[in-house]
Amino acid sequence: MEPYLEQLVSYFTKVDNQEKREGIYNHLTTIGQPFVPSNLRLVAKGLHELKLSGLLDCSRFFCDAGSADGRVVALAAACFGIPSLGIEYDNHLASMGRENIGQLKAMGIIRTVPVSILQGNFCKDDTYRSIRFQDIATFYCFESNCYCLANKITDQSPGGTLFVYYTQNNNAHFKGLQRLTTITLQSPFNKAYFMHGFKKLELTSRTI
Ligand SMILES: C[S@@+](CC[C@H](N)C(=O)[O-])C[C@H]1O[C@@H](n2cnc3c(N)ncnc32)[C@H](O)[C@@H]1O
Repeated sequence: MEPYLEQLVSYFTKVDNQEKREGIYNHLTTIGQPFVPSNLRLVAKGLHELKLSGLLDCSRFFCDAGSADGRVVALAAACFGIPSLGIEYDNHLASMGRENIGQLKAMGIIRTVPVSILQGNFCKDDTYRSIRFQDIATFYCFESNCYCLANKITDQSPGGTLFVYYTQNNNAHFKGLQRLTTITLQSPFNKAYFMHGFKKLELTSRTI
């Protein structure tokens, strides 16, 4: 994971500098939310722990719900070899995400796994035309419409689907999902972040 993580961090530091110059961080996205990117080192640490504890399935689809410039999609694909999908509502961010993924493929940082970015609303059924919602094993959500996504997982995903909720809130609950772990991610200068791992419960003969 390490050499690819360093290359990704260096790539997105350049993207950040460019975007700061263009002022994208000061604008709301078309869905009315500010674009705040995840810290790649912290997310890599959290996903690594989820993998070690057997919760992260690296062989089946990962989806960053609200993928912005594609950095978490790139992380999942480059550092963990997970087939990955990003869904982003904002047109400009979705095309930035596609451009970043294309560049990272050309640089050999993202290698053989399938990776794509869709422009659309991750709460809507018709967004999942090329990849079925039910085929996504892991959803990642940072400061986007996490409650709508959690409800959709509860209603439509198979038992065992993982919902990774990255937040500065050390407590979180979603109806129908069971919290299995909370990983504290401390960066030296900022407030801690928490990565909560929730699972859709398997249906048993008692719950049917
Ligand atoms: C805080 S940013 C997180 C970006 C990225 N996931 C990361 O961790 O670096 C949240 C993003 O989610 C997008 N978003 C929010 N609700 C959405 C929805 N229902 N469908 C698609 N994108 C959404 C916003 O446009 C914004 O780019």
